Amino acid sequence: MNADKLDMERIRQAGRIIRDGGLVAFPTETVYGLGGDALNAAAAEQIYSAKGRPCDNPLIVHISRLEDLEQVAASIPQKALALAEKFWPGPLTMIFEKTEKVPGETTGGLDTVAVRMPSHPVALALISAAGGFVAAPSANTSGRPSPTTAAHVREDLEGRIPLILDGGPVHIGLESTIVDMSVTPPMILRPGYITRQMLEQTAGAVAVDPGLIREESAVRPKAPGMKYRHYAPKAQMTVVHGAREQMVKEICRLVAEAKSRGEKVGVLASEETKDRYPDGLIRSVGSRQEELTIARGLYGALREFDHLGVDVIYAESFVTEELGQAIMNRLKKAAGQRILEV
Ligand code: TXA
Ligand code: MG
Repeated sequence: MNADKLDMERIRQAGRIIRDGGLVAFPTETVYGLGGDALNAAAAEQIYSAKGRPCDNPLIVHISRLEDLEQVAASIPQKALALAEKFWPGPLTMIFEKTEKVPGETTGGLDTVAVRMPSHPVALALISAAGGFVAAPSANTSGRPSPTTAAHVREDLEGRIPLILDGGPVHIGLESTIVDMSVTPPMILRPGYITRQMLEQTAGAVAVDPGLIREESAVRPKAPGMKYRHYAPKAQMTVVHGAREQMVKEICRLVAEAKSRGEKVGVLASEETKDRYPDGLIRSVGSRQEELTIARGLYGALREFDHLGVDVIYAESFVTEELGQAIMNRLKKAAGQRILEV
């Protein structure tokens, strides 16, 4: 989707709404965002209330030009500039000490700020029309899967915000990688499309938040948002992990069992396995040969199960090459960490 396909006049109108303190939903390459003026405390408060989100959960500030970074980030390490050069605009969020300019409402009371320059042309045009600094969480109501189409945004926020810019389905489908640049070595707080290996090629050693690696443990994740049950469908979901044959067999068994209890069952499968399940509502997220299709399809499939009114979901596990970490992180969260090893 090109910015000029989405009428520039509408983007300018959206920019005016944000400059006047209002909210607009817009596409990015990761997921749709709910944007407000990042430098306006009242706008941040509106974002929390439109999403029904706890206000101790900080927002990401979106910029459209690298030279604007120093307005919101007080101290910018050399490594961060190297990462920005390499990955911006793109699905990478970096955390810095914040400047006075950024209100505490935007950062959930923290003295650090998360900053990202998205690559979607509509997002870039909107940020610049809005004055340069747009605070935006994912445009879902709190606790629901992040929206990957404008229809998902409408489901959650129609009537609560004045404008939704429709840029079509997103490219990546999972939220940006978050790296804390205010610590040494830099630390990944949320896995995403930009992997640890990619970051390390540019910035040297990068750590991973221990709260992410052992999610079932008592270690508290450092990104406040990562502690909430997130990305969640309404049904109870279990991820079945193991070699393909055993995984399929076990899910078939679990489906039969759930059906005999009178439950409505959904199966989250892949192109390669979807025909292996005799019953249940089978949805393929994407192809294991093309992991980006799985990233893109995941949240939409979870929303579809909500519409179908399923009681339980059995999901295959997707430990893929590059995006596997990010995909499994979201899948496990959606399942409330219910994993079955077979
Ligand atoms: O791809 C994305 O990042 C999307 C699009 C719209 O850009 N945005 C997004 O925002 O996912 P949100 O609010 O749903 O997730 C932001 C995450 C939360 O887990 C929050 O706790 C964390 O970033 N975060 C924000 N500021 C932080 C800070 N200063 N320190 C630690 N974590 C922070
Ligand atoms: Mg979110």
